[in-house]
Amino acid sequence: MNEELWTSVDHYISHLLLKSDGPMDEILKSNTAAGLPAIDVSAPQGKLLYLFAKMISAKKILEVGTLGGYSTIWLAKALPENGKVISLEISSKHAEVARENAAKAGFKKIIDIRVGPALETLKKIDEANEGPFDLTFIDADKANNPEYFKAALKMSKVGSLIICDNVIRDGKIVDMNNTDPGVLGTRRLYEIMSSEPRVTTTAIQTVGTKGHDGFAIALVVK
Ligand code: SAH
Ligand code: DHB
Ligand code: MG
Repeated sequence: MNEELWTSVDHYISHLLLKSDGPMDEILKSNTAAGLPAIDVSAPQGKLLYLFAKMISAKKILEVGTLGGYSTIWLAKALPENGKVISLEISSKHAEVARENAAKAGFKKIIDIRVGPALETLKKIDEANEGPFDLTFIDADKANNPEYFKAALKMSKVGSLIICDNVIRDGKIVDMNNTDPGVLGTRRLYEIMSSEPRVTTTAIQTVGTKGHDGFAIALVVK
């Protein structure tokens, strides 16, 4: 197996199963034109986020790490008209591109992008009692994954989902010689998830256009 084949399979899946989901590729084109890195979730992963939100009839979603809003828009698509996605982004340039993309896709009212370091913004959101959130998608600087998870859990309720991206990283997660702060942060996240009695969790490896990576999925049970 190789990345070229994984990419072909992702295209096959997208061509058949995502064809009724609108012009999501247009968002990726705007991102490329604006010079954003192509580190969005893949199309089938974006659809998976959408399906998770639908399955729990989510109304209020929190996202940490917006980039150009590709995952944000997948999540917004799952919401009712009065739904909300609050998405946190440190780069005002990324936020500006994401706001344009959200407006073009018809989600100006639903998507609320907040600029600043996510740890600070999360604190403000908590203090303003804007939770609880039905679903949180964590996808920003990986070194802060433990703190993002704790904040997400604090602003969850029984039945909420907390999903974290990039928890496999080509298998770097099991290379104990790897001391990259992102890998260490994610390993710490696994430890917290494993010892936190309020969640039941798994992680799923994926291959595709974004290489070998995956999601961790935690359901808040108490
Ligand atoms: N969720 C997006 C991809 C996010 S990429 C998608 O799938 O479409 C990660 C993003 O996190 C980048 O835009 C980066 O600027 C942002 N980021 C990095 N550190 C951050 C921080 N401390 N606070 C908020 N956002 C941060
Ligand atoms: C990076 C970040 C992501 O969220 C991702 O999905 C892939 C790569 C990165 O910072 O390299
Ligand atoms: Mg990611």
